[in-house]
Amino acid sequence: MARAFDVVVIGSGPAGYIGAIRAAQLGLKTACVEEWANPAGEPALGGTCLNVGCIPSKALLESSEQYEHTLTGLAGHGIAVSGVTVDIGKMIGRKEAIVSKMTKGIETLFRKNKITWLKGHGRFVGRGAGGWQVEVSGGAAEVVEAKAVVVATGSKARHLPGVPVDQKVVCDNVGALAFTEVPARLGVVGAGVIGLELGSVWRRLGSKVVVLEALPGFLAAADESVAKEAWRIFTKEQGLDIRLGVTIGKVEVTKKGVVVAYQQDGRDERLECDRLIVSVGRIPNTDGLGADAVGLKVDARGFIEVDDQCRTNLANVFAIGDVVRGPMLAHKGEEEGVMVAELIAGQKAHVNLDTIPWVIYTSPEIAWVGRTEQQLKAADVPYRAGQFPFSINGRALGHGDTHGFVKMLAHSHTDEILGVHIINTHASELIAEAVVAMEFRAASEDIARIVHAHPSLSEVTHEAALAVGKRALNM
Ligand code: NAI
Repeated sequence: MARAFDVVVIGSGPAGYIGAIRAAQLGLKTACVEEWANPAGEPALGGTCLNVGCIPSKALLESSEQYEHTLTGLAGHGIAVSGVTVDIGKMIGRKEAIVSKMTKGIETLFRKNKITWLKGHGRFVGRGAGGWQVEVSGGAAEVVEAKAVVVATGSKARHLPGVPVDQKVVCDNVGALAFTEVPARLGVVGAGVIGLELGSVWRRLGSKVVVLEALPGFLAAADESVAKEAWRIFTKEQGLDIRLGVTIGKVEVTKKGVVVAYQQDGRDERLECDRLIVSVGRIPNTDGLGADAVGLKVDARGFIEVDDQCRTNLANVFAIGDVVRGPMLAHKGEEEGVMVAELIAGQKAHVNLDTIPWVIYTSPEIAWVGRTEQQLKAADVPYRAGQFPFSINGRALGHGDTHGFVKMLAHSHTDEILGVHIINTHASELIAEAVVAMEFRAASEDIARIVHAHPSLSEVTHEAALAVGKRALNM
């Protein structure tokens, strides 16, 4: 007899493991299939985010930022340091310890919630009397049955055609988080989220970084004023060499490193570097899922087709996270996980994709929620904008980092907040207030009338809201 579950979740990234926990909380007998093995060959939960994505990259961003701050940020406080060195092995070791703590934490949560971890690769094989049949390959191969299946198989790095990634010289996010030494010359293809975050890490640790981007504009998804400010800080202040509008040609691995041939403004150029990071987007993981065996619909780009509630074309089969439409962000997947677990349990649930915050963990960080000014203009939505800089905020001056601003966009007639855009070292934390406000459909005047602690960076959000009504007090 096949083991039977109410819910089988395939994939234990943030979407899958959170979905499994919520399903178990609601009294459903739940299993989660996960095949990931860590570099030591041990099975690990957590998927890309915990093992080779959000968590390890933030550990290295922090370490590299502390190093750069020690070198250049302390003098202004009257603190002199000398003999500062970096031990990359120790830095990577710290990152690995954090990853291990977090992934082991999910194991504990699974035990606490009585979730069965099925170790191996999950694949649809058919439908039996007890529901969908999922084959779990691996050491203890078996077929299990599930009344409902949640596909949360995530995404993998897109690679450039004809450019094999060996994770040593040519890397995607996996290899770029595990360099054993600081490359003297680092090339990055793609000035998106991963390229900018990882480019920043290695630049701070001493690499000469050149980023090659196909698009003629910089950070096209962000509000134009934020993108402009980020461009100025990254290129002029920090010395990141970003080349826009390039077409990548031949990429050749040599004895000394990599040579990238590319075209810019019709000219043939070459970039020689010691390591190359390829960060040109990610593609959904549906290979080997057995979609054909059960007739699960996958679109031309490989995403599983779903409706607003993440239902696929098959009864009681849901798909969530990076493997479906919408931003490839861990927190979006988590909310979809909660939603589908609640739907399976017979509850009402939804996810509002319009209030998903975006964060780019560069220094300063970039965060936003809602629509950009250029989107409002294109859609002919009448709006008012309020903007306030951190450079005249007492707390930011105390911190010694006065980069950036908060910009709030509100509807001209109703004053409803339509978008908030922040560029500042603590943007990832500050954006939370804007998300709450937008979820409650607040007006800019609501934020303007709410007390914000003094002195704090949140006062800048307060002043931006006041500025929408042309009544900023401190400017
Ligand atoms: P991305 O979509 O953010 O950026 C890829 C960049 O590569 C784009 O600017 C694109 O124009 C460029 N590009 C594409 N093909 C190219 C080519 N042939 N030559 C040169 N440039 C090329 O993708 P990225 O950075 O790989 O990240 C993947 C996903 O992971 C994103 O969707 C993001 O949402 C998610 N992610 C989110 C993070 C966060 O929230 N902080 C951190 C890391 C990843």
